[in-house]
Amino acid sequence: MSIIPAEVKNQYNSIVSELNIHNHCYHVLDEPQITDGEYDHLLRKLIEIETQYPNLVSTSSPSQRVGAPPLATFSQIEHTVPMLSLENAFSNEELKSFENRVLDRLKTNIPVEYACEPKLDGIAVSLHYKSGELVSAATRGDGSIGEDITNNVRTIKSVPLQIIGDEVPEFLDVRGEIFMTKEAFSKLNKKAEENGRKTFVNPRNAAAGSVRQLDSGITATRPLDICVYSVGDISPDVGIISHYEMLLKLADYGFKISDKLRVVEGISGCIDYYNQLEIERTDLAYDIDGIVFKVNKFGLQKELGFVAKAPRWAIARKFPAQEASTLLKNVEFQVGRTGAITPVGKLEPVFVGGVTVSNVSLHNRDEIERLDLRIGDTVIVRRAGDVIPQVVSVIVSKRTESAKKIEFPKYCPVCNSDLEKVPSQAIIRCNAGSECNAQLKEAIKHFASRKALNIDGLGSSIVDSLVDSGLVKSVIDLYDLDIDSVAQLDGLAKKSSQNLINSINYSKSTTLPKFIYSLGIREVGETTAKSISKEFCTIGRIMNAKVEDFLEVADFGPVTAANVADFFGAIENQKLVEKLLAKGIFWEDQEDTVRENDNLPLAGQKWVITGTFSSMPRSELTDRLEFLGAHVVSAVSKNIDILVVGSNAGSKLKKAEELKIKTIQESELQNILS
Ligand code: IVH
Repeated sequence: MSIIPAEVKNQYNSIVSELNIHNHCYHVLDEPQITDGEYDHLLRKLIEIETQYPNLVSTSSPSQRVGAPPLATFSQIEHTVPMLSLENAFSNEELKSFENRVLDRLKTNIPVEYACEPKLDGIAVSLHYKSGELVSAATRGDGSIGEDITNNVRTIKSVPLQIIGDEVPEFLDVRGEIFMTKEAFSKLNKKAEENGRKTFVNPRNAAAGSVRQLDSGITATRPLDICVYSVGDISPDVGIISHYEMLLKLADYGFKISDKLRVVEGISGCIDYYNQLEIERTDLAYDIDGIVFKVNKFGLQKELGFVAKAPRWAIARKFPAQEASTLLKNVEFQVGRTGAITPVGKLEPVFVGGVTVSNVSLHNRDEIERLDLRIGDTVIVRRAGDVIPQVVSVIVSKRTESAKKIEFPKYCPVCNSDLEKVPSQAIIRCNAGSECNAQLKEAIKHFASRKALNIDGLGSSIVDSLVDSGLVKSVIDLYDLDIDSVAQLDGLAKKSSQNLINSINYSKSTTLPKFIYSLGIREVGETTAKSISKEFCTIGRIMNAKVEDFLEVADFGPVTAANVADFFGAIENQKLVEKLLAKGIFWEDQEDTVRENDNLPLAGQKWVITGTFSSMPRSELTDRLEFLGAHVVSAVSKNIDILVVGSNAGSKLKKAEELKIKTIQESELQNILS
């Protein structure tokens, strides 16, 4: 055994503590102080010394995060202090009865303080530190005995192998949740897909699967993270009197705690916190399945005590589940406005993400193949926030013999024309255009929609009847309708027919961008339609423009330019435009509008709108601001002049506050708009 010279030992210890500090800055505080290259250089230096003096290597050396030799099985660890679970609340009423129970037991009616934290959706872990060094890590197991996952936990960069500071406790049992961020999860799955390996269903499964590897070398390659939320035991007593202060102490020791940790007064404070986090939930970097509220003061916690396996001083307010399993009863095929065929899954209705879902888009044939989906399968459906529901996976173990393969149609399910696969895309399309009643109906609905010609009263069922009855074979026919023929439609009163005809007549007065948008050109949304109008100013110039001219339009790529040029190049579309204009559709000259724009009160200003408004829909607010010359964009950046804040504003407001951007409330809008 080689003798270790004192200066080597000193140099070694100083590299270890330097690496620990930088590891903490990078993985816990998210504030790197040196470059990755500099960190690697230090680590190489450490490994060099360790190779020369192997006796120096301890299990808490930063070099040991790469994993240890594989295990045959996990051994068991008995928790010295049991790992408890939490009582759940699914409504504000349940939270209020929790508070009543707390106040009754404490024999008071003065609301108490609660510490609020997100309930991370991961794997619970207990970490033991002796004299500041991580000595073991265990899963929760049954609450009394867990599995020894020490080697795996050592590979997680945000777990301190050594507690920071001069006053480290002799013993510390700290509890937390191991998780994977949504971004790390999708990168991991993408890599797995590229390498033909199995993908994980969600970040929680990915974290659980990674933590339970017998080969910690594999865990080391997985992007795991930790957030700690309580202390099981600490000695000697550090004299801290509240949960909140204890977590701050853990942060000083080098542990990652939630940046959403707050202390509030009474259960009404908890409800406000829950409502706020429910809005922020989809924007968080990690999945959470609820909020945990804990009576903050340890003295009160002690008085309240425990019931069975849960403390009386804490409760988890759960969010509506974002995933649920249900039966795929059938698949139907819908034809969209552009002829794209979309398979739609008919589900046994299931309550998920706060709503009942019975239909789900399966997108295209490739997606059905990717999921390996059959009719009769039990599937996992996900609906997060306002995101449309989707099938995330099939529970293959529940597949029965009667499960049926999904046959994609060869002919259009509405007009029976041949279907065509769009080269290099997953789309299968019916190319019959307005000859196909499904496409015609969708084209009319688009033409009449609010952002297009805004024909009030021309709803989905009236469009269906107009097309099915043969009264309307093209959007042009709308302008030939009369009250009597409309009144013959099923269920339409004379008064409604009159109103509809009036709305159709009103729609003739429009703007050039709305008219371009109403034509339903592929990939031409509201913004693109505005850009085209701004560039060319008149419909005549647009119709005469070539692909190269469209390439000049702001934000236009070759695909959009080709789509627009093809559309206006086709004789039938030129005729369509001419006929619509002949029916009396008109707008103010765009050139005049552009010229006048510079003098408008909000000219040159960039505005963003967030939240919901009681006085008008957001789209109307956008129109009115644009009418005053503002440029309304969707993302908050430092170039924004003003953010208009409605109710339930979320991350945009936060970002605007960080960037010190001026905000105005709905109550101040009226002044500006008038
Ligand atoms: S406190 C006695 N706080 O939720 C207190 N738990 O059912 C026990 N969890 O398995 C836990 N985030 O792993 C607490 N901020 C948080 C949490 C949290 C997630 C998990 C925990 C436990 C389960 C409780």
